[in-house]
Amino acid sequence: SKPLRVGLIGLGTVASGVAQILLRHRDRTRERAGRDVEITRVAVRDLSKSRDVEIPSDILTTDAMSVATAADVDVVIELIGGISPAKELVEAALNHGKDVVTANKALLCEHGDTLFALARETGRCIAFEAAVAGGCPIIAAMSQSMTGNQITSLAAILNGTSNFILTQMLHNDASYDDAVQEAQECGYAEADPSMDVKGTDAAQKLGILTQLAFGERISPDQFPVQGIDELELEDLHFADELGYAVKLLATAKLVNGHLELHTQPTLIRKERPLAQVDGPYNMIEITGDAVGKAWFSAMGAGQMATASAVVADIIDVAVGRAAITFPHLNLWQTEEKFQLQKSE
Ligand code: HSE
Repeated sequence: SKPLRVGLIGLGTVASGVAQILLRHRDRTRERAGRDVEITRVAVRDLSKSRDVEIPSDILTTDAMSVATAADVDVVIELIGGISPAKELVEAALNHGKDVVTANKALLCEHGDTLFALARETGRCIAFEAAVAGGCPIIAAMSQSMTGNQITSLAAILNGTSNFILTQMLHNDASYDDAVQEAQECGYAEADPSMDVKGTDAAQKLGILTQLAFGERISPDQFPVQGIDELELEDLHFADELGYAVKLLATAKLVNGHLELHTQPTLIRKERPLAQVDGPYNMIEITGDAVGKAWFSAMGAGQMATASAVVADIIDVAVGRAAITFPHLNLWQTEEKFQLQKSE
């Protein structure tokens, strides 16, 4: 059968991880995808930059729109992040009959409703496993494996950078500033790390999970969001002595038919699984009315963990799995099911 032709938009940390997997593990990918997966075009900002992956120079361009609309591209992988021009590029890709794989939580949290509607109109799909919790297969779990449940609550560590910083401060005697810098060097932090430490990134991911769990579109400006940037090392030590870990926790729960959402530093008893997640790892604790509590955990940030999720999405598109799941996602419905409890 014909190869699946991939157009990469962006060749930063995650995208070069994706390219590495696709180029170095061609045979394995072909076996799992049922056909060759070929990178046919790549959009970058700077053609002269040196990179940790070899891309033939004749497929590199600075014109991202030409990749989103190219005749020799079947699936567009959007890995530039941010709202604009990512939104215009995704729209153009869908309008030109391409499926889209994206890791862009800001974009999906804010504009998921219009993008998903457009994908449905054009008969394409958007796969976004990498947008929430990096290498942790939480979108697959919630959209496929847990559909026998009404989810009643989510409690999650969704920002690898913040969790890494808290761990470095408490266990490795790092200063806050040094830990932030290390998170940047490791490729965990966003281009603007204030998105991480102020809780915005975790809140956007919670917004996406809330969609899947409750069918409600809620953006971070509709619920309380606080980050780790005002915590003191003392707070961490006091909590530790009292038997608690401090984690940046994103929570959504159903209380008497109302949804309550928060993203904030939270004391968690050390015995709980969430308290034991250290470094750049994420964990989502889900409570479902049939399954009870379930925990999902993996590296939530970083090059190869996030690339792992992107490649899985590409393979899902290649075998047609994404086209089957996508129309059934409980996403961005207009009908109000649960009302958001406005907080004090
Ligand atoms: N900056 C994000 C984090 C990357 O630290 O979790 C993954 O979205």
